[in-house]
Amino acid sequence: MKLENVVPWGRTLEEYQLMFNLNEKDKHKKILGCSDGPASFNAELTQMGGDIISIDPIYQFSKQQISDRIEHVRPIVMEQIIQNTDDYLWNKFSSPLHLERTRLSAMNHFLADYDKGKAEQRYVQGSLPELNFADKEFDLALCSHFLFLYEEHFSLQDHIQSITELVRVSKEVRIYPLLSLEGTQSNYLASIIDHFERLGTKVGLEEVSYEFQKGATTMLVILANE
Ligand SMILES: C[S@@+](CC[C@H](N)C(=O)[O-])C[C@H]1O[C@@H](n2cnc3c(N)ncnc32)[C@H](O)[C@@H]1O
Repeated sequence: MKLENVVPWGRTLEEYQLMFNLNEKDKHKKILGCSDGPASFNAELTQMGGDIISIDPIYQFSKQQISDRIEHVRPIVMEQIIQNTDDYLWNKFSSPLHLERTRLSAMNHFLADYDKGKAEQRYVQGSLPELNFADKEFDLALCSHFLFLYEEHFSLQDHIQSITELVRVSKEVRIYPLLSLEGTQSNYLASIIDHFERLGTKVGLEEVSYEFQKGATTMLVILANE
């Protein structure tokens, strides 16, 4: 992965709780944060006593490199959001400025925790579709804003392989959102549900209490076979 292809942008623990319906019991599980990037989820959950490992290809870069890249992409990402404000629901965030402040605060929290988290192996360089973990090493794997969202860059087969790998390393997998960047339901969703149902794996959709990208109100839940 080249740094100039990366658009680091990260969410907070509060958003993860809402996107994935995380309850108190969930927060005490052994969690894999897949594609966590510069989200503050790991830093915040660790401070609360959580047991979490995040994987992302950007963890091959240094704190300074990620920080410089965030500074570079920030105006570009904000410009895109301002151009497309109608695609988003402005209730949790009252304005693009409010959104930008929240995201920067989350990413600064991540950066402040990054070197310590790397030393503690809480931030591990890794990429789907292959993860360097043992079978069922985790209770719960969460994947926010990577699978489905960037479907134009990854095939249905890539998605099936990636989700199969998440189900290999974790007893339960939750994925959000299920929309593509265009804001419409992913073209792969029905085929993926069908694929796992045929294997006898429990798979379903669950409503969540988070919506920023309009219509993104459900997550995919997959329970690994016993
Ligand atoms: C839009 S960000 C989402 C960050 C975080 N999950 C959140 O919701 O705030 C997407 C992340 O996917 C990561 N990514 C890109 N390719 C990946 C791959 N093959 N496997 C896992 N993650 C990948 C990127 O580096 C980036 O950090």
